[in-house]
Amino acid sequence: MELLNGKEISGQKREELFEEITRLKNNGITPGLAVILVGDHPASRSYVLSKQRTCKELGMHSVLTELPESTTEAELLARIGAFNQDPSVDGILVQLPLPPHISERKVIEAIIPEKDVDGFHPLNAGKLFTGDPAFVPCTPLGILEMLKYKNVDIKGKRVVVVGRSNIVGKPVGQLLLAEDATVSFCHSKTNNLAEHTIQADILIAAAGSAKLVTKDMVKQGAVVIDVGMNKVDGKLCGDVDFEKVKDVAGMITPVPGGVGPMTITMLMNNTVLSAKRRKA
Ligand code: GUN
Repeated sequence: MELLNGKEISGQKREELFEEITRLKNNGITPGLAVILVGDHPASRSYVLSKQRTCKELGMHSVLTELPESTTEAELLARIGAFNQDPSVDGILVQLPLPPHISERKVIEAIIPEKDVDGFHPLNAGKLFTGDPAFVPCTPLGILEMLKYKNVDIKGKRVVVVGRSNIVGKPVGQLLLAEDATVSFCHSKTNNLAEHTIQADILIAAAGSAKLVTKDMVKQGAVVIDVGMNKVDGKLCGDVDFEKVKDVAGMITPVPGGVGPMTITMLMNNTVLSAKRRKA
């Protein structure tokens, strides 16, 4: 079994990004990311701070806007509108989830597609779907980057995605379909889940259910990607029963230290991409 070490792979990618950012800065362009956090969800706050720290480490411009839980939808939309107009901002990210009185759909659609570095805007989702990707969501992109780094053969392989969120499940399936994989989607209502997962050459667990994927559900030698970030007794735990599944998997991502670090790195990648597309 080989460990897919997200820290190592993202470290390599960050070095490449650092060089690219340096070149851009020498040409008068500093890639900029604006992050908006509404409320004080502790996990969200920690993700947002880590995004900001990474921006700083790479020499990018970063703006963090922290708004109280009581912020109205109109106030949030106005903030987004201001960043849409701000030429020093190449990417806008509104941390999800949002408080229940704010429509996620309206917020996502308020970010202009040219600055939608999360790739959540329906236009960008549609572009991925139709084979003309502009911004691809960061976690799916990070997963592809890991597979490519490890020279995992994707073409013609059976990929099974467990989970159908707009953030991970659906876009990662589209991305790997574009790489010529044969993709199946499973979810919480799937009958006989194990019957599907056991066939996977590449199994992606993104259901948000701790230790959902057990050893008997994984084919010998399969590549197992665990996107789960579940809190169990105060500890971070993936969707895969790592300790047992590692004995059958060919490659597997740990949690933490697998997909997580890749997601932030690909957010930086998308922001740099946006900066390179700036109109002169
Ligand atoms: N919440 C959890 N993951 C993400 C993400 O990738 N982007 C945003 N904006 N919010 C999230």
